[in-house]
Amino acid sequence: MDYFKRTKIARIIVDEAVALNSEVVILGWVRTIRISKEVAFVEINDGSCVGNLQAVFQNPDNFQILKQLLTGAAVRAIGKLAESPAKGQKFDLVASGIEMIGEADQTYPLQKKRHTFEYLREIAHLRPRTNTFGAVNRVRSKISYAVHKFFQDRGFYYIHTPIISASDCEGAGDMFRVTTFELNKAPLKDGKIDFEEDFFGAETYLSVSGQLEAEIAAMALGDVYTFGPTFRAENSNTSRHASEFWMIEPEMAFAELEDNMEIAVDFLKYLFRFALEECRDDMAFFGQWVDKTLRDTLEFVINSEFERLSYTEAVKILEKSGEKFDFPVKWGIDLQSEHERYLTEKTFKKPVILYDYPREIKAFYMRVNDDEKTVRAMDVLVPKIGEIIGGSQREERYDVLLANMTAKGINPEAYGWYLDLRKYGTAPHSGFGLGFERTLMYITGMANIRDVMPFPRVPRWAKF
Ligand code: 4AD
Ligand code: MG
Repeated sequence: MDYFKRTKIARIIVDEAVALNSEVVILGWVRTIRISKEVAFVEINDGSCVGNLQAVFQNPDNFQILKQLLTGAAVRAIGKLAESPAKGQKFDLVASGIEMIGEADQTYPLQKKRHTFEYLREIAHLRPRTNTFGAVNRVRSKISYAVHKFFQDRGFYYIHTPIISASDCEGAGDMFRVTTFELNKAPLKDGKIDFEEDFFGAETYLSVSGQLEAEIAAMALGDVYTFGPTFRAENSNTSRHASEFWMIEPEMAFAELEDNMEIAVDFLKYLFRFALEECRDDMAFFGQWVDKTLRDTLEFVINSEFERLSYTEAVKILEKSGEKFDFPVKWGIDLQSEHERYLTEKTFKKPVILYDYPREIKAFYMRVNDDEKTVRAMDVLVPKIGEIIGGSQREERYDVLLANMTAKGINPEAYGWYLDLRKYGTAPHSGFGLGFERTLMYITGMANIRDVMPFPRVPRWAKF
């Protein structure tokens, strides 16, 4: 099939690495076709970049197959690379041959007209062939690489944490159960389901976070990170929540909250800069078709000094704002995205890091401050999205951790291994979690989390 002989279109029109007059083989799919008496134009896309290569056929009568080619067909075209006389493109393929590899008929759903994103979600098996979702998939891949590059260049080790877990890191209780019991035949003991009989001999769930295991690794390897899927069964049907999403969680031994903030900011800026520099043509596409302010927004974040203030200060600002929020603000509440967006978009007009949250609303593992009311938590908030990063300094003191677990109703026996880390060579350590899809929404300007993942899982939707 000429797999190794073909030239990817990106090599031609993005890298401009192919000399004019070279003979090339192109393998791809027909986007449009126009045939007149003297000349035919077939636009071919091979997925390597957003742009198409136009194959030009003089005397179309000599190429019988052209009449059978419809949008969506797979083709092999050969010809010479030439400068294009047409406006808006640099290169053409002066074609000497074309073969249809796989036909598509008139029922192919992706005809020239624009489709709504809602409709495209229903045809997630075909939407990667649209310009927008081609670009989303390519940027997602490049930014995944950037995640690894950022940490690997700084001496962090990549840790694979389990997807099936017997612990609840965030304590939010929104977990998917993992069991091999038949739903109506689970064995009982004292009137309750007997999980000792289950596959793992314990209650198990899909992991909501790799953090607790990343802490184990950090206390041995120093600087580590995880990058993998996480699962949350919260039934919040918003444009920013998915039930399965990817999270990047660095964990650093000997790092305190301020160190954590610094790495979080560097990391976010690095990813945004990487997108602008290494995904130029896809980013230009998003800037033209999805959000005209995209480049400015990203450059603004890259050049911003992130505002840092405590939760308590933030609550004071919100209380004094005179703004009517759906959820009224008072000290002790969990901030909603309307509050977070007010702070970044109206008060400071730039990214904000909030820290020292009320102990009551945060997870058991966060380091307790001397006031005993707040913990060393931090959230990074960005305009348009709100929270993009959540993190903290971890409680490294055995007694304080034990007391906090007990107060939050967590059985210390189930977390003996986690407590052990505080018994043998404990040290301050910190980390955070960056939502990969929220980052991609920011980078691409796509407004719905369902449109930055190839196969979204959200309440009532697990198709494909
Ligand atoms: O704030 P979260 O819950 O923090 C943790 O899970 C910690 N264990 C992280 C750590 O300290 N290692 O989640 C972290 C980030 C959020 O800021 C958000 O970007 C993203 O994960 N996130 C979601 N993204 C998509 N859909 C959801 N349902 C999300 N829930 C959290
Ligand atoms: Mg959070």
